[in-house]
Amino acid sequence: MSNEGVDKGRRRFLTATTVAVGAVGAGYVVTPFVLSMNPSARAQAAGAPVEADISKLEPGQMLTVGWRGKPVWIVRRTEENVTDLSSLDGLLTDPSSEMPQQPEYAKNVTRSIKEEYSVLVGICTHLGCSPTYRPDIGAADLGGDDWKGGFFCPCHGSKFDLAGRVYSGVPAPKNLEVPPYMFLTDSLILIGADKGAA
Ligand code: FES
Repeated sequence: MSNEGVDKGRRRFLTATTVAVGAVGAGYVVTPFVLSMNPSARAQAAGAPVEADISKLEPGQMLTVGWRGKPVWIVRRTEENVTDLSSLDGLLTDPSSEMPQQPEYAKNVTRSIKEEYSVLVGICTHLGCSPTYRPDIGAADLGGDDWKGGFFCPCHGSKFDLAGRVYSGVPAPKNLEVPPYMFLTDSLILIGADKGAA
């Protein structure tokens, strides 16, 4: 798929504006960042929730949407990805998401409401760069057999798994943030609002 909003590999979104333009150009995001002054755009700029249509997202793919000026990633994990997450605890700083950082429904091994979908704010918890999606399991430059896919921050080398959990021994101190979100339907996610405990 050549869709601009879907990232299979190394594409890096440097700014939220870049994300917004790419997503709108592809026509993929249901409620995109519209760069105009209509009421919807103003509401979104002020932090209103945005909807993301995940109906075309294939296993292994990532979709980026803009929310509050930030990129939010939605990754559809494969069954192998989900299984692999359980094997990584010993390599991670906060494998159980104990730090007070994310919604309650992120305090599980997949850090998500549905294990198939990861929803993360795509901003490194070190100094704010936007990491690169690296789903390539076993990547030699990221640890070989210990790399089960995830995100790599090119600024200072921080690594995160496919649940956004930060690896030990890198500059980033925390897992990637999980935004509030909820499923409106099986194929529609609302970013920026939830049901509380969900
Ligand atoms: S900003 Fe990501 S490692 Fe420094």
